Amino acid sequence: MANPAHVAIIMDGNGRWAKARGLPRLAGHRAGVEALRGAVRAAPDLGIAWLTVYAFSSENWSRPKSEVNDLMGLLKIFIRRDLAELHQSGVRVRIIGDRQGLSPDIRALLEEAETLTAANTRLNLVIAFNYGSRDEIARAAKRIAHAVEARLLPPEDVTPELFAEYLDTTGIPDPDLVIRTSGEQRLSNFLLWQAAYAEFVFLPCYWPDFSRADLVEAIRTFAARDRRYGGVTARDVAS
Ligand code: FPP
Repeated sequence: MANPAHVAIIMDGNGRWAKARGLPRLAGHRAGVEALRGAVRAAPDLGIAWLTVYAFSSENWSRPKSEVNDLMGLLKIFIRRDLAELHQSGVRVRIIGDRQGLSPDIRALLEEAETLTAANTRLNLVIAFNYGSRDEIARAAKRIAHAVEARLLPPEDVTPELFAEYLDTTGIPDPDLVIRTSGEQRLSNFLLWQAAYAEFVFLPCYWPDFSRADLVEAIRTFAARDRRYGGVTARDVAS
């Protein structure tokens, strides 16, 4: 099977990586940003056109206030320090998640990143920030309900295709491959709708240790899988 065009990553294990080294959790998140830089640099050479990363979930607000502040700060630093390089290397940045819940300065930075890089085509980097799938689906349903109530949308027109247009990911192809690091094997409210037919690869390494070699290995595992989308393969039909 061909390489995945869209890879989505649950970057898990920053805290455990730090703990194993006797370091504060912030050090783990910082090392996580470095691993993210590596993945962004490696992706285009591996045929990846879309890379989505789970950077802050709508459930992460329940962490201690200091850690939430650290993660907000890291996002700001990432956008401020890396935006020029991302733009220069042809990366288009897009953010999914609930922006209303974010501070005005962060919202402005996210918009700046999207606007500056809007015409880039080498790699689409989708950052899921203040993102949770159930929240995304509920927000989409609310907008659809308003459109129906205003008689702008006949209820019969609500199909899976139309519903997808109301999600944050409208215009983004579904992920082919979802990778999660740190040995956990669950989706944690990430791309529930979009990952309906994705392949999953779970890696034992903590996110800060994720390397280009791990990405290559995950793609190789993906390529060996047999995706049937609920149907049968060409091989099955022939026999
Ligand atoms: C999971 O590790 C990771 C996160 C909750 C955040 C992911 C964030 C980064 C990689 C850095 C931030 C990047 C940007 C662009 C802002 P964990 O803390 O749940 O680790 P643990 O399960 O070992 O405690």
